[in-house]
This record gives sequence, C-alpha cells and structure tokens, in this order.
Amino acid sequence: MLVGIDQLSFYAPPFYVDMAELADARGVDPNKYLIGIGQTQMSVAPKTQDIVTFAANAAKQILTPEIQKKIDMIIVGTESSLDESKASAVVLHRLLGLNPFTRAFEIKQACYGATAGIQIAVNHLAAHPESNVLVIATDNARYGLNSGGEPTQGAGAVAILLSANPRILALTDETVTLTQDIYDFWRPTGNLYPEVDGPLSNQTYIDSFQKTWDEYEKRYTKTFTDFAALCFHVPYTKMGKKALLAKLADVDADTANRLLQRYEESIHYSKRIGNLYTGSLYLGLISLLETSVSLKAGDKIGLFSYGSGSVAEFFTGHLIEGYEKHLKKESHESLLNKRKKLSITDYEHLFNDTLDISHNRFYQDSQIFSISEVKDLIRHYKQ
Ligand code: CAA
Repeated sequence: MLVGIDQLSFYAPPFYVDMAELADARGVDPNKYLIGIGQTQMSVAPKTQDIVTFAANAAKQILTPEIQKKIDMIIVGTESSLDESKASAVVLHRLLGLNPFTRAFEIKQACYGATAGIQIAVNHLAAHPESNVLVIATDNARYGLNSGGEPTQGAGAVAILLSANPRILALTDETVTLTQDIYDFWRPTGNLYPEVDGPLSNQTYIDSFQKTWDEYEKRYTKTFTDFAALCFHVPYTKMGKKALLAKLADVDADTANRLLQRYEESIHYSKRIGNLYTGSLYLGLISLLETSVSLKAGDKIGLFSYGSGSVAEFFTGHLIEGYEKHLKKESHESLLNKRKKLSITDYEHLFNDTLDISHNRFYQDSQIFSISEVKDLIRHYKQ
C-alpha cells in the first residue's frame, strides 16, 4: 500500500519587504542579499496574525467536509510556539472543524519538527489506512532588526495532508536520520530571538547533508543518478545550493545539471517569502512541483530536512500519476502577488508593534483566520 502526501498548500502573510531596499537601509551592497543570500523579498506578519492563523489559512485551502471527517490526527511542527503547555494543534483542531476523536499535538525540534510529524503520520496511516493526517509546519522566523540573521527572516505555514493511496507523492521507507548535539542555533525559554552562530549553522547544515547522503548511498545502494530532483530545507535560497554543490563534484555533468536546474525551480517561492523554518523544505517541494515542467509520474524526489541543534533527515518519495492536477499554483501565485510591499520604516514599525496579551482588547484584520480579541491572556480567533 502506498502512503504519502495527498494535498499541499501554503500561506504567507499579506506584507513583504523588498530585499534590495532592506540592503540599502542597512548600508549593505544589495547583491549580498539578492545573490549572496539569494532572497528578493521577505514576508512580514502583522500582530493580528500568528502561527495559528498562518496554519489555519494554509490548511483551509485543502480541507473539504469529507477530509475533515477522515482526519484523526493533527500535528503542528513549529519553533515559534505561543504557549509552553497548550499545543497550537488543539486550537487548530477547533478552528478547522475537525472531528472530536482526533489526536492533536505540537512537535519541537527547530526546523525539523514537521518532518518528525510526517514520519509519525506515515506509521499511523500504515496501521489505519482509512484515516487522514494533517501535518502543519508554521513559523514566524524573527532574528531582530539590524541583526545578522535579519535578511533570513520570513513567516508563514505549509499544510500537508497525508493519506493512503496519496495523489501527489508516495513516501518510501528509505530514510536516514542524523542527530548531533550542537549549538548552532537555539532559543532559550523566554528569549524573543534565537541565539545563532551563523558560520557554524551553515557548516553543520552542509556536514549534515553530506553525512545523511553518504549513509543513504551506502544503506540503499542508490546514487544521485536515481533522482529527478532534490529538495532542501531553505533558510535562505543559497544554503541548499551550497550543500548540493559540495556533493556534486564527482557526479556526471547531466545529473549535476538536472539537479541544479530542479533546485532553482524549488526556490521560486522561498525567494519571495524567506525562511519558513519548519515549512521551508515543504515550501520548496510545492515550488518544485508547481514550477517544473520537466517532472513526470514515477520520478524519484529526495528531501533533506535540517533542524538546528541538530537533527537532519534524508528521505524519498516518488510522484504519482496525475499529481499536477492536485496542485494549487494559481492560488499560491495570486496570494504572493496580492501582498503589499512595506517601506523599511513601515516594516520596522510593524516588526516592533507586537501583540500584548496582557491587555484585553479587540483587533481587526480582513484575513479569514486572524486574531479578533485578546482577553484574559487568551487569543481569540475570527473564523
Ligand atoms: N555580492 C554578492 N555576494 C556577496 C556580496 C556581494 N556584494 N557580499 C557578500 N556576498 C556573499 C558572501 O560571499 C557569502 O556567500 P558564500 O556563503 O557563498 O560565501 C554570502 O553573501 C553571505 O555573506 P556572509 O557570510 O558574509 O553573510 P553574514 O555574515 O551576514 O551571514 C548568515 C549570513 C550566516 C546566513 C546570517 O544571515 C545568519 O546567521 N542567518 C541565520 C542562520 C541561518 O540561516 N543559517 C543557515 C543554516 S541553519 C538552518 O538552516 C536552520 C534555520 O532555518 C535557521
């Protein structure tokens, strides 16, 4: 029985910053952000939108009454959690109208959380093929104004529906996971922004890809030639390319060119959104599938997930006949095109204007799922 990804959609908040303008404001050569980092735009969220509303707005695009009834597990992967105890998945379970006999929980391991959720979903579906599992990766990636990480921020969510007999990507049991206790990026409890060792994080990412790939090659006797495309966790679009290039030196030219071309197709949306943390790998997969005209049913796709701290996983899937009919390219493009560009002054104002949950008050936002009121330390959402 095949098990895997049946539906995929993403949401990004309605504002963005132009990266050349941000570079100018920070006294940096724009080509550092545009070419060196590889970002053209960066998503920014207003205080009336948080990881719950990103997630709900992403998931509503793939839910039908029939799917809502079949979902018996909702898992949220996030590293921007709103509560030390209560899982955002429980709030989403209500907002999304899921059936009461559903398991709901949140997973944390930096940007790796949603991948852990997907592996749990795959095992659950093998035992309960009649059910559906909703995994949502949702984050607000904030490093602070004028910080080293500022050009690698972003915000939004990816919703992934998993089922038996999936219509987009069947996942295989070929998977290699690597855990290493390293402080490249971490956020002690209570801290608003992460602590980051930029060079160590880049190096650990590249090493993790090399180690998981080498182990994968050995364990499953496969090579790069077996793959139509590889998707990477994309903290900024240059990062995955650096890891890929480091492994392509001994690969034949056709294979190397193919993987590099597919890589470019996988970063189309990330270039305009920035880092989604847990959702970045899956935004890359959506981008690849919605941008590439070279892929076909049966093609093997490799996915490299990396969560600082660190856990990495390389796993694989193959495309299902007719997968392209289940993509949401038009609505995704339209969501990005409708966003409003912020001046750098407005971005800085919005960035500092954070939600104060200690003050009771009402809020207004035209987005379908957004914060409507804060009362007694509880966020209330408009449905
Ligand atoms: N024109 C073209 N390129 C230029 C340039 C110019 N004028 N000026 C600089 N560059 C290039 C540099 O050569 C460099 O390219 P290479 O990496 O290929 O050498 C690139 O632009 C970046 O320059 P720096 O390394 O000098 O940039 P920096 O010191 O400002 O730091 C960063 C960059 C480490 C990514 C920093 O933004 C950061 O710390 N970001 C957050 C951490 C992060 O995203 N790490 C990624 C791995 S961790 C992970 O994946 C998990 C996660 O999501 C956080």
